Parts: sequence; structure tokens; C-alpha cells
Amino acid sequence: MSRIVYVNGEYLPEEEATVSIFDRGFLMADGVYEVTSVIGGKLVDFDGHDARLTRSLKELDMARPLDRDALLDIHRALLAKNAIDNGLVYVQITRGNPGDRSFLFPDPETTPNTVVLFTQTMPELVDNPTAAAGIKVISLPDWRWHRRDIKTVQLLYPSMGKMAAKAAGAGDAWFVEDGKVTEGTSNNAYIVKGGRIITRELSHDILHGITRAAVLRYAAEAQMEVEERAFTIAEAQAADEAFVTSASTFVTPVIEIDGVALGAGTPGPVARRLREIYIEESLKAAI
Ligand code: PDD
Repeated sequence: MSRIVYVNGEYLPEEEATVSIFDRGFLMADGVYEVTSVIGGKLVDFDGHDARLTRSLKELDMARPLDRDALLDIHRALLAKNAIDNGLVYVQITRGNPGDRSFLFPDPETTPNTVVLFTQTMPELVDNPTAAAGIKVISLPDWRWHRRDIKTVQLLYPSMGKMAAKAAGAGDAWFVEDGKVTEGTSNNAYIVKGGRIITRELSHDILHGITRAAVLRYAAEAQMEVEERAFTIAEAQAADEAFVTSASTFVTPVIEIDGVALGAGTPGPVARRLREIYIEESLKAAI
């Protein structure tokens, strides 16, 4: 059965939804996006994603086309139309279609944004065998641009990173810059040593994960110690455990880094507990 998607004010079957070949998202990767997870038909941390969307647009000097309530209505309409129980909603906003190719930004008065939303169903979002087993990661140089705090659709290098990880028999790659881990291809990275959770501090170097913010809040509430600083791959390999967080993977344990098993080589207790807490609290707070 085909999905119903949203494009520029219309709900359409996916086969009928189109965007211009001159769209700046297509030609210039000039667009931003958000991914919000859905548990039991409800949106997890919608307001966090909405706030980051506003920030990404502002950093790129793009006007925001839909306010929070309008965007929430579209998210909910798509969940209903597609009968989504567990899965996600993807929203992308680009600088639109100026009718030609040019490096200069078009006048927003005459070139409206392009807005696209669609759902993905993910039956294994919560009871995820990958999360139960943990993933292996490899390290790669961080060759992305320097404003990774903006959630743009420039995902070629992260995509190449995932392919390199797959070719190496791993589940993901951690990017390294100036000797320190920045983040995963599509997630934030953490290590645990002596019960202390260590993750890179917020800056332009990483995406300010919505899941990261929630997990650090829950960790503090559970009296776990958190340290926000960068770490090396060698330090990570010597850690007791490691994990990643994102809207689509929640908390997923990492069991091996560049061929070195962490601890017992199985998901650690801190990562497993944080995943449980995250899912429990997200279920309560979802809207
Ligand atoms: N990725 N870092 C990067 C580079 C990301 O792409 C993501 C999310 C995160 C985690 O952010 P959050 O917790 O807000 O999902 C960190 C999404 C899920 C994606 O591209 O599919």
C-alpha cells in the first residue's frame, strides 16, 4: 500500500508527490530536516525537534513557513492517514524552487520554501534486535563541513561512512577530528568509564541531539555522573562500555570499536538501563 505524504500544502499518495528539478534542496543540498520518532502512534520530543528546526532555518537565513501547531497538525495527520504505530516522521524544508540554477539565494518573497513530510514504519523501533545485540563501530576522519550543529540535508559523507562501516562488517562509523571523536554518522557518541558517562560537549562540531539532551537529563535524574568533553578512540577502546543515541535508534550499545571489544564485548549495564529509561519516559511524554 502506498503512503500518503505531504508536499507544499497537499496530502498525496507518494507516487503523485513531486518537487521541481530546480529545487535548491536537490541542486544545492540547501535544506534542513528533522526526524521525530513515533511510539504507540505518538510523537517523541516533538517540541525539541521543532525548536531545532527553527534554529537550523535561522542559521541558514531561511524563513520558517509553518508554525509549531501547523507542523504538529501535519505530523499527526500523516500518522493517522498511514496508521503508524512505531516509526518516524521525516520533515524537510528547502529554500525552494527559484526556476533556475544559481549560487545566490533567491528572494524568499518570490520563492517559497519547499516543505515535504513523510512517515516510515519501524516495527522494531522499540524491541530492536540490533540494540539488544549492540553494534560494532569503526573510526573515520571527520570530513564534513564545520557547521554540524545545523541539521542540513548534506548527508553524502555520513552516507559514505555508513557504507564503509558496512563493508568492514560494522554497524556505524564514529568520526574523528583532531584526534577526538566528534559523533557517529547519524547519532551522538558516548563512553562509560567507572560509571561516569562521557560525551562531547555541544559546539558547532556536532549536532545537538534531541535524544542526547533527554538522555543526559534522565542520567542526571538517576544520579549517574555525566562529563561533557571530547574523548579519543584509544580512550573509548579502554572504556567499560559505549553507546550512541538518536531519534531512530534511541540508546544503542556499542560493543566494539575498530576491532577492539569493550568490556565483556556485550551491551553494558549503563547503556541498557538508559535505553529502558529513555523508552519508558518517552512513552509517558509523547504527544
Ligand atoms: N540523525 N548526530 C548526527 C550527525 C545526526 O544525524 C543525528 C540524527 C544525531 C542525533 O540527533 P537526534 O537525537 O536529535 O536524533 C546526532 C537522524 C536520526 C537521521 O539523520 O536520520
